[in-house]
Amino acid sequence: MKFTLRLILSLGLIVGAVALVFAYHQARQEEDRLNAELKVRVNVIAESLRMLIEPPLTAGNTDFLKHVVDKFSGRGKLEWLDIRDLNDHPVIASPRLPQGLTIAPDLLSKNIQEVRDTSAGYGRFVHRGRRLLYVYSLPLKANSKISDIMSFFYDADFIQVRVHKLWMESFLRSLVQVFLITIVTFFIILLNVMIPLRKITEWIREIRKGEPATKLDAANEPLFKPLTTEISRMARNLEMARFAAAEEARLRYSSEARWTPERLKEVVRRKLEGSPLFVVSNREPYMHIRTAKDKIECIIPASGLVTALEPVLNACGGTWIAQGSGDADRETVDKNDRIRMPPEEPKYTLRRVWITKELNDGFYSGLSNEGLWPLCHIAHTRPQFRPKDWEDYKAVNEAFAQTVLQETEGIPNPYILIQDYHFALLPRMVKAKKPHAKVAIFWHIPWPNPESFGICPWYKDILKGMLASDLVGFHTQFHCNNFIESVDRFLESRIDYEHFTVNREGHTTWVKPFPISIGSNPAGPPSSLGHSPEGNRNKDALLKPYNIQARWMGVGVDRLDYTKGILERFRAIENLMESEEELRGKFTFVELGAPSRTMIPQYKDFVDELVREAARINDRFKVKGWQPILLLMKHHSHREIEPFYKAADVCLVTSLHDGMNLVAKEFVWARDDEQGVLILSQFTGAARELKDALIVNPYDIAQTSKAVKEAVFMSQDEQAERMSRMRRTIRDNNIYRWAGELVSQMTQVRPGEGQKV
Ligand code: F6P
Repeated sequence: MKFTLRLILSLGLIVGAVALVFAYHQARQEEDRLNAELKVRVNVIAESLRMLIEPPLTAGNTDFLKHVVDKFSGRGKLEWLDIRDLNDHPVIASPRLPQGLTIAPDLLSKNIQEVRDTSAGYGRFVHRGRRLLYVYSLPLKANSKISDIMSFFYDADFIQVRVHKLWMESFLRSLVQVFLITIVTFFIILLNVMIPLRKITEWIREIRKGEPATKLDAANEPLFKPLTTEISRMARNLEMARFAAAEEARLRYSSEARWTPERLKEVVRRKLEGSPLFVVSNREPYMHIRTAKDKIECIIPASGLVTALEPVLNACGGTWIAQGSGDADRETVDKNDRIRMPPEEPKYTLRRVWITKELNDGFYSGLSNEGLWPLCHIAHTRPQFRPKDWEDYKAVNEAFAQTVLQETEGIPNPYILIQDYHFALLPRMVKAKKPHAKVAIFWHIPWPNPESFGICPWYKDILKGMLASDLVGFHTQFHCNNFIESVDRFLESRIDYEHFTVNREGHTTWVKPFPISIGSNPAGPPSSLGHSPEGNRNKDALLKPYNIQARWMGVGVDRLDYTKGILERFRAIENLMESEEELRGKFTFVELGAPSRTMIPQYKDFVDELVREAARINDRFKVKGWQPILLLMKHHSHREIEPFYKAADVCLVTSLHDGMNLVAKEFVWARDDEQGVLILSQFTGAARELKDALIVNPYDIAQTSKAVKEAVFMSQDEQAERMSRMRRTIRDNNIYRWAGELVSQMTQVRPGEGQKV
């Protein structure tokens, strides 16, 4: 309150002072104007009188003179007239002096002196008592020579009155202004500062005490939005830290060894002995996109790799090296092409690598996605192997190797975690220059059998490149087996089947499965600050914008990729509508599809076919207010996807082949109500862990259709049993475990093992 009072008082004083200065200025201007006006008026009268008086004065006609002086004296504001000769002897004067006025000798002497000296008229303002007079004197001539001096006493009181009135008015106006401004300021401060501050203080107090905090809607406090956002984050961290500490204590007490971000951080710190962690991937975790001339947005790309690795970097810090692919990426990095991430709470460094469009065409679209992607997925799309693409692939791997060497300069044995099929050659390039670096490559997609792999013209280079790592990781043991068999078939090496290692030219590489997962952070307290999980389960609200009403809702979340079995999924829905009349008009399947790799013809054709199929099936069955398939093609953020996960009765993951598939895990983890059913392709890595899903062969349309029906009519008890078992699996095998085990395995590489590549 003291502050408000001080603020209002100072404001009042300043506004008052400024208003008074203005009023003073205005009064002065008015006074000058009136003075000037009066002088002109007196001048005109004096001239007229001079012309009337000079002839009788010259002629010595005293009667006439007296008559004139009498007539004019006391008329209007002309108070007194005086004529005297050059020796200061009175010639004639007004009969009566103005009231309260005495003509002291000094009153006229200055005027007379001036007129004598200049032979011209002279006037000045004179205060007599409380009165103001304008005294004007001018020479009178006889026979062209100055003979006498005529003086006027003009009443100028009215100027004082006018100026005084103006002052009073201005003063009152300033008073009213100050009052109004003070009142308005007080209310503005009260409503926009004092009340919100009181609310924020109360809110912080609740958080500090660990009480369930009342939700503070920062959007309602625009002035404090940056502050409340920051405090929200701090509070969330505090809440997480408290929960994590409680969880750790609980786990210690119950001797459970669950992986948490804190545990991973600790493991990485101990095992790496302070050496920083470097992650390399083609896809970056955050892209900056220009959405308007002066607006840049930061988005998270649709990528399982990103979903999995972000929490790891958030927990351990380090550097993530990735290709800058957003059209505003260059504008957002520093001079070393680095930027701290995540934007709202930086924890690690993202180092962007720039690859030209021409190279990227061959590296990314060409060899990676038209060659290796179909080669490894065996999804009946013929791989393309163009020598130019291979050259580009090598060049981009080389460019990344340079960046890795630059970033790890001065670190004797850095830990480098390379991601995916884009970088099969990178381990060898890095090891050649930095033999003591600990390098692992994790292959996020399946590894095919040797017969399939052998059709790639550069199979040997790929295997040699990968075997330069100390560790090669896949999602499943099955993919490890395929890899070892490929090495056995095509390269000269010693394979230890007991430990699953390959020894080639003196270098040992471990080949191990590490089933990747999601954050599933057990340190997530029941959110008192974030969104409410309950608020999101409303499928009517989700479908209403599309004019659809449905009793049951299915959901699919994918990059629009031909390996994801989305067409097969649509056909299973068609089959369901054909066979189950009772589901017509009641079941809608929503596909949230993120356009992906759109520059590749197969992907474009695939999207066209998807759109056609969805339209064809909808045309067959749709009725007013309902349709069986809703295809929403755009990049959906996690925030947009989550309500669909939470509201769906069934989630369909029907990949024709998939390394792991994290959508399946995300769906299960979103279902803290332990309801909803997962239908999962037997050809995903996830199917080996989530055995309580309804496992299907996506090529078998009738089987998938039957599974959807089973899911829709599954009892709530059975849903809960299955869901809780799957949730336990994800909770125990989360991304922190994945990273922890991968890093632990890397640290077991003995010094010297990485020398020869
Ligand atoms: O599945 C392989 C993979 O690289 C994932 O790790 C990732 O989620 C996905 O492909 C994304 O592909 P892209 O980076 O080409 O969009």
